[in-house]
Amino acid sequence: MKGLILSGGMGTRLRPITYTNAKQLIPVANKPILFYGIEAIVAAGITDIGIIVGDTKDEIMKACGDGSRFGASFTFIEQSAPLGLAHAVLTAEEFLGEDRFIMYLGDNLIVEGVASFVEQFKRDAPNAQILLEHVKNPSQFGVAELQDGRVVKLVEKPKQPKSDLALVGVYLFDKHIFEAARNIKPSFRNELEITDAIQYLIDKGYTVRPHTITGWWKDTGNVEDLLEANRLVLDSLESKVDGHVDATSQLVGKVVLTAGCEVRNSVVRGPAIIGRNTKIIDSYIGSFTSIHHDTKIIGSEIEHSVVLANCLLENIGFRVEDSLIGRNVRISKSKAKPKALRFVLGDNSEVGLI
Ligand code: TTP
Repeated sequence: MKGLILSGGMGTRLRPITYTNAKQLIPVANKPILFYGIEAIVAAGITDIGIIVGDTKDEIMKACGDGSRFGASFTFIEQSAPLGLAHAVLTAEEFLGEDRFIMYLGDNLIVEGVASFVEQFKRDAPNAQILLEHVKNPSQFGVAELQDGRVVKLVEKPKQPKSDLALVGVYLFDKHIFEAARNIKPSFRNELEITDAIQYLIDKGYTVRPHTITGWWKDTGNVEDLLEANRLVLDSLESKVDGHVDATSQLVGKVVLTAGCEVRNSVVRGPAIIGRNTKIIDSYIGSFTSIHHDTKIIGSEIEHSVVLANCLLENIGFRVEDSLIGRNVRISKSKAKPKALRFVLGDNSEVGLI
């Protein structure tokens, strides 16, 4: 079997971060989201992996390398434009050939991995297998209707859902998916939708099997879900202190301090992770916070947030909460009068003054 990871797309819901970063490389617990997917596929025994790339191709290729450090071999496949998940499958047809394959959306995280899902597909050999999860708000997802253990209908964001089973961003297919993708029309948003391609398979009498997961799954496409994924992953980490902590600092609960980081006169309340060469000085880092490498937090308080590399947060004066802060951001308070807020914000930035 082969793997296909979708790492193109637009990432509009994560702007402005995605103007300058591939969303799949945003770190969750200081590791790019994409790497969780790669590791899950390799853990399921699949090592020949195609990665769909778009505008952020160079960044993705640089971060992933040739695959050897994951025990895999990567082939990067350029998609002309983000014209839909089924379009991405067609783009990869030459790479996939006659092989059956797992397709994984590069911004999704599935805690229990995909090994049992792949095992079931190998054993039962249906034409397609989809991953489902019971959700509280099915009308926000693609929803599957089942009959006698078979999928009979897929509906995208139904107003009156007939089940609470949402489609998770991992799929298994045989070669018939190419026939399906070639026979569907673009949707109202001008994308070739994978749900339409799977519905084609159902309508033509091909077997589409469901597999329901019980662990958590997150599509990290927006800030809220990204912070929740960060919270869930941090919760599963074990404490590890490789950085330096001075005698006036306190670590509470599960805290990971990466080699080269420094905590001075501060409190870090876990679960939290602090990256390489980052300095936490006279500050409070609260639960569910990930601070990436080469960042400085000085005289400030932050919790339930993700901060990317090379930032400076200095003497902010308010606690920062529920925030996603991109690379090279500077937030600081000066003593100058009159008191005022001064911003240099990119397009689509969001500032909440509470
Ligand atoms: P989406 O989150 O559905 O789309 P998007 O990345 O364009 O984001 P937004 O809706 O915020 O604009 O995509 C899911 C994954 O699939 C993601 O990793 C990007 C990838 N993808 C492609 O590689 N090619 C495509 O044509 C599309 C639509 C998505």
